[in-house]
Amino acid sequence: MPKINWSNLGFEYLPTACHVRSTFKNGKWSRPALMRTQNITMNIAATCLHYGQACFEGLKAFRCKDGKVRIFRPHENMRRMNDTAKYIHCAELPEEVFIEAVRKAVKANMDYVPPYGTGGSMYIRPLLIGTGPKIGVGPSDQYDFIVLVVPVGAYYKGNIKPVDSIILDDYDRAAPQGTGHVKMGGNYAAGLHANILAKKMGFPIVLYLDSKSKQYVDEFGTSNFIGITKDSKYVTPDSKTILPSITNKSLMQLAKDMGIPVERRPIAFKEIANFAEVGACGTAVVITPIGRIVHGSRSMEYDRKKCGPILKKLYDELTGIQYGEIPDRHNWLMEVK
Ligand SMILES: Cc1ncc(COP(=O)(O)O)c(C=O)c1O
Repeated sequence: MPKINWSNLGFEYLPTACHVRSTFKNGKWSRPALMRTQNITMNIAATCLHYGQACFEGLKAFRCKDGKVRIFRPHENMRRMNDTAKYIHCAELPEEVFIEAVRKAVKANMDYVPPYGTGGSMYIRPLLIGTGPKIGVGPSDQYDFIVLVVPVGAYYKGNIKPVDSIILDDYDRAAPQGTGHVKMGGNYAAGLHANILAKKMGFPIVLYLDSKSKQYVDEFGTSNFIGITKDSKYVTPDSKTILPSITNKSLMQLAKDMGIPVERRPIAFKEIANFAEVGACGTAVVITPIGRIVHGSRSMEYDRKKCGPILKKLYDELTGIQYGEIPDRHNWLMEVK
């Protein structure tokens, strides 16, 4: 194993000892097996290459305070992957394949789980792809399910720093009746151009309004939108074109536990200038506070120096549970023995 500088890890691909793979053929999944290679071979007419039959997920394993390694809410990712699979007609994954593969991938790469205290974690990437050949558009009858893992660093070294976001009127992430609610590869290819454009303009993340009316907030490019109102309510969009975030679902529960009222409802764009705090939430960072949102010549400012107090409290609570510093009262963690 190469020597890893845990305090210097980012969010980048790094080879680990192995990945796990299972294959669907003749209507059956094979048992997940460890693979030492980092490559796959497939037919040149595989449906994932031509017609985008590719679903993926992102979840994490943590080295907890007691030294044990635990995975955060893997059954939620399994359900969401199967929702994506259904929508783009891939073979669905039974629990014994999905959970076993995720568990096996972490277990076989235990040395790559960053030590407790470094703020790092192991990012787990399940991938489901159509591998059978097709020239006419249609679903494959063969699939590969791959689980690869990557050690990732603490996104925030020290303080949680707010970032700037931009709304680009000329680009949409998801069509009104399209695929925004599922996690398929094509959605992210479709968002790359706006993403790169925004970065060149100095904005690390793009905020999308609903594509049809442009009157409501949808979500950020790879994270859900959370607003904290001036009277301390947690509000988050209810929209058919956003990805149901597992982090958002968890934070909503924690907010309720703290007595913070939670509203999941359409959020009018004109409302957001009045929010006290705005955050982007997702597995990679938990919560990224938003310092300002720019739309044309208008700029909506929040706290540009630090994370707002309610989002910070929620961030600390969720990361505290993930690292085993706070009791796991909702049974969100699965130990890898
Ligand atoms: C479009 C989009 N929204 C939201 C999220 C956050 O979801 P989660 O909290 O499950 O990581 C992600 C990341 O998976 C995403 O890609």
